[in-house]
Amino acid sequence: MSDSEKTKFKKNILISGGSRGIGKSAAYLLSRSDYKVLAPSSQELDQSSEKSVQDYFSNAEIEDCEQYLEGIAHSRTSSRLRRTNDRSVLRVHEDHEDDENAEIEDCEQSLYGLIVNAGVYHSSCFEEYSFNDWQRVLDVNLNGAFHLVKAALPLLKTYTELNPKDYSRIIFISSVSAYTGELYAPAYSASKAALIALAKSLALEFAKYKITVNSICPGWVKTDMALNQMPNEDSVKNSLGATLQNRWIEPEEIAHAISYLLSEPAKGITGEQINITAGLDI
Ligand SMILES: NC(=O)c1ccc[n+]([C@@H]2O[C@H](COP(=O)([O-])OP(=O)(O)OC[C@H]3O[C@@H](n4cnc5c(N)ncnc54)[C@H](OP(=O)(O)O)[C@@H]3O)[C@@H](O)[C@H]2O)c1
Repeated sequence: MSDSEKTKFKKNILISGGSRGIGKSAAYLLSRSDYKVLAPSSQELDQSSEKSVQDYFSNAEIEDCEQYLEGIAHSRTSSRLRRTNDRSVLRVHEDHEDDENAEIEDCEQSLYGLIVNAGVYHSSCFEEYSFNDWQRVLDVNLNGAFHLVKAALPLLKTYTELNPKDYSRIIFISSVSAYTGELYAPAYSASKAALIALAKSLALEFAKYKITVNSICPGWVKTDMALNQMPNEDSVKNSLGATLQNRWIEPEEIAHAISYLLSEPAKGITGEQINITAGLDI
């Protein structure tokens, strides 16, 4: 492989919940870097459903990077961000034109990074919290991580088998609520705390596969999820006033932390969590 071909090498990344907020911002940032980003909508990949996750993985085109590169070396390839519905779902599409030798379809599949980002929030006092609401939050936030890691693990292992000097990455988007708790959000906080413990447990187990597993714990990030919890200016003022910096965290700040954990210099970080809270947690 020539140097110029190597510069085109793109590692495959899958981000759940890429249609809005943090996921969309991360998909955008990473797709402008050395990654081929798959950011399915919740219609394409409902992470709370084992069947939906399995169907997505059996249909997704996630090619082995090296063979994929050999393929595009012979083809005119363009990637573009396409709006797939009104919510501007970001996906990177690769067009392979005029090349009978590309053999993209036959490539062994591999995945460099899995970012379990999709999440839901439900707020209610405990006495009014129904089991259905409890179950729905855990199904998406925690069981979704289980389904995604199960489905992605063989592809993550393939990546490091093909690239033995590298480490593939799993990142869970947890929350500051995992360790501070959150008023009227018991299921959400419990699910996010469980993600941190899951990351540590999987970091221990997956070290032998050269896969790192970490969590990111954001504070108040300016997305639909947080804005929906703050119906008026007073609630925004009170919530942000509890941070040392008295401000929102922008989704891009979380996207850059994701990008760092995916980077080569971060390969030694595993079983850890990065807190990005604007000083909400001290
Ligand atoms: N915003 C914050 O202040 C904050 C703080 C700490 C942690 N977080 C965490 O950060 C992550 C992203 O949150 P956000 O603020 O960007 O939220 P958001 O703007 O509400 O976006 C949530 C994303 O998750 C997707 N989603 C929901 N249920 C899904 C399912 N069953 N399967 C697949 N995708 C699903 C949504 O898809 P649709 O568009 O189809 O609904 C959307 O893309 C979440 O895990 C959240 O808990 C957020």
